[in-house]
Amino acid sequence: MLRRPRRNRKSPVIRSLVEETQVTVNDLIYPLFLIEGEKQKEEVTSMPGIFRYSLDNLMDEVKASIDLGINSFCIFPSLPDAKKDKYATEGYNPDSLYNVALKELKNKFPESCIMTDIAMDPYSSDGHDGIYENGEILNDATLDILGKMALEQAKSGADILGPSDMMDGRVGFLREILDAAGFSHVSIMSYTAKYASAFYGPFRDALDSAPKAGDKKTYQMNPANSREALIEGELDFEEGADFLMVKPALSYLDIIKLLNDNFDLPVSAYNVSGEYAMIKAADKMGWLDGEKTMVEMLTSIKRAGAKIILTYFAKEFAMLQQ
Ligand code: PBG
Repeated sequence: MLRRPRRNRKSPVIRSLVEETQVTVNDLIYPLFLIEGEKQKEEVTSMPGIFRYSLDNLMDEVKASIDLGINSFCIFPSLPDAKKDKYATEGYNPDSLYNVALKELKNKFPESCIMTDIAMDPYSSDGHDGIYENGEILNDATLDILGKMALEQAKSGADILGPSDMMDGRVGFLREILDAAGFSHVSIMSYTAKYASAFYGPFRDALDSAPKAGDKKTYQMNPANSREALIEGELDFEEGADFLMVKPALSYLDIIKLLNDNFDLPVSAYNVSGEYAMIKAADKMGWLDGEKTMVEMLTSIKRAGAKIILTYFAKEFAMLQQ
């Protein structure tokens, strides 16, 4: 045998010489859940190790993560029902808990990168990402609300805005509004190919944001499709997106590769709540080694072409690197 591929696997040193992909803390964005109150820290039942924090505790979690080398965070608010309404008005209240938290984070950790969420669902009494009328989700009528949310978040110091509703015309609309208001430096990470996925279940528990009626299939993509992701990518590129995201990650590695092969923008992948929950559950049962599976999963997402990974494992991964 002239060719013996095993020679390149014969020792740890040689294996690391030929290793093509390494995930580092610099690649990761850590999603965090914010709730009202003081000294609150509630574990999300379906996501062991992930908590909903009141602002004081969230600041501590961010500090602890920065000490471990994680410098990028994506914040999601979880609101009591009393603060939700049909038009998600709390979403653009300049003094909302969310906007206050963004200001405080940027104030205390100016070097960190703070990403936000722009969608109606955490604030909507209907639990949908857009205005819900007679069983329909309105695409264009929702834009005005998203624009107001974006402006408040930009004013609060957000580095990257994340329009996550997966509807049409979001990126271009927000880019124009931001630029006109003097926020041309604020980035947009588009949820370019976001699928109508069952893997979001634990997240909707965390935010109590599941749709009250219907599902999200008229706006999120069909998991059976990949060509549509190219159309979404082209639109986002033309509309001025700075990053293209694929979500979820693990069942969509082909989509990550497709976007990475076809666009020169950095591709990010959202390693979603259900992907986290699966590993944690199997680890708890003793059926999988949680740590090793985590590293393998993150590595495969990066190998497929994601430069950036949003993951609930961020802190745990960083601890493992210490
Ligand atoms: C909705 C949104 C969702 C997630 C982030 N933003 C869920 C949904 O579309 O219902 C899911 C994230 C996760 O599962 O970790 N704007």
